[in-house]
Amino acid sequence: MTDLTPVTFTATDLDALAGHEGRVAVIVTPEGKLEQSARRVNRLTKGAIQRFVDSAAFEKVKAGQVTTFDWPVGLAAESLDVICLARNHSVEDARKAGAALGKLRGGKAALLAADGARRVAEIVFGLVMRDYDFSAHKTDAEVKDTGVLVMCSKPEDAEEAAGPLMAIADGTFMTRDLVNEPANVLTTTEFANRLTDMKDLGLEVEVLEEADLERLGMRTLLSVGQGSDSPSKVVVMQWKGGAKDAAPLALVGKGVVFDTGGISLKPAAGMEDMTMDMGGAGVVAGTMRALAKRKAKANVVGLVGLVENMPSGNATRPGDVVTSMKGDTVEIINTDAEGRLVLCDVMWYAQERFEPAGMIDLATLTGAIIIGLGHENAGVFSNNDDFCNAFLKAADKEHEGAWRMPLGKAYDDLLKSRIADMKNIGGRPAGSVTAAQFLQRFVKAETPWIHLDIAGVASVKSATALAPAGATGWGVMALSRLVADSYETE
Ligand code: BES
Ligand code: MN
Ligand code: ZN
Repeated sequence: MTDLTPVTFTATDLDALAGHEGRVAVIVTPEGKLEQSARRVNRLTKGAIQRFVDSAAFEKVKAGQVTTFDWPVGLAAESLDVICLARNHSVEDARKAGAALGKLRGGKAALLAADGARRVAEIVFGLVMRDYDFSAHKTDAEVKDTGVLVMCSKPEDAEEAAGPLMAIADGTFMTRDLVNEPANVLTTTEFANRLTDMKDLGLEVEVLEEADLERLGMRTLLSVGQGSDSPSKVVVMQWKGGAKDAAPLALVGKGVVFDTGGISLKPAAGMEDMTMDMGGAGVVAGTMRALAKRKAKANVVGLVGLVENMPSGNATRPGDVVTSMKGDTVEIINTDAEGRLVLCDVMWYAQERFEPAGMIDLATLTGAIIIGLGHENAGVFSNNDDFCNAFLKAADKEHEGAWRMPLGKAYDDLLKSRIADMKNIGGRPAGSVTAAQFLQRFVKAETPWIHLDIAGVASVKSATALAPAGATGWGVMALSRLVADSYETE
């Protein structure tokens, strides 16, 4: 797994600034006030920072922005990074500043002179989150053998505050690694193995194999994977950090390790992007990891359906009728609408076994959600306003885009089948909504439920606030926040 940037917190030592090799970062305020370390570095560089602050260029610099001086005179460092950060900065600005440093670091030893800044841990979180690089398959990968040294006025406090944030970064890195990994490496078996490894963190992990799924009657899930040589699996991860008898929050993820479309084959152009079709399962895995690492005082169960959607002589045909674990029959009109067939059985199983206090499913479910919301927001569908609002608030706090979409009977009617209880597609109009309606048929009336369609946000072509291009890890921060705000006992 991609390792987190090693970070060491220490007390401010102004005399260490001149001799540090690599990168040195200091803080100035948007009003142009130089903080303690900036004043020392300004002296060492014969007034370079003051000249910058007095220049017209500084007027355009925004809070959270970093300006780099290369090969500065008077310092041993290769680069001097001047961070513009207000004394009363927001969490967002702190993370933004950190992310700017993380983007610049490139494996070099870095010294962040945070002095007396507040929210030092949030600056470090932004740095670590943005300092992610998926280099597992690069033979000439940059060696990152050096970490970041953070000098601040209360290093013990900063380190303690960074603890839970590093847990979230660690979970996010797991999600990103899973989503970035190609499908010949991340097979269903490899995915299950990586989840089983999390037993070391105190998670209970079970792998249900095809024979188990057959016995449970998960025919819709099995119908998706039957054309692949990789065996279908369901993995159950339990984190029991809460009260003994408290019903858990259930997280359910779509884990299609590759989606060719099956017999309803997708066009060749862009099909390689379907390595990310296990993104929902990736977020569930990363969130469970973060919760375990930060020892969340809550009961949460994560369930993922791992399958590969391939065409073959044994693959499901359009027109086939299969029976779900719930007992409802589904006419499979299009084998490319496979995510809902995986989720409906896992969601039903989650409710039957765990009677969860709430259930959230995550899936790269529809291309239509990208048409509707682009890459800025995940689609949010829910049968419960309070539950939904709690999630939207958590996502907003973490600056992860999420936008509520409608549900309703008229959409559900589009799923009527002539020969079975329902079809697996509702046609082109409102494609994301009819997909959600399909899922809702497998949600019990008493289960508060949220469906997150993350097709547009799980992996993107250009860098975002806290991630380079590729897998974002969208949702780990919001879900961890939701658990902290709504489920933790103290
Ligand atoms: N995995 C895709 C959805 C998707 C598309 C995810 C683009 C990420 C980026 C899903 O299984 C799918 O193929 N959906 C179809 C549904 C249609 C056949 C009703 C789609 O969106 O075209
Ligand atoms: Mn598909
Ligand atoms: Zn898919």
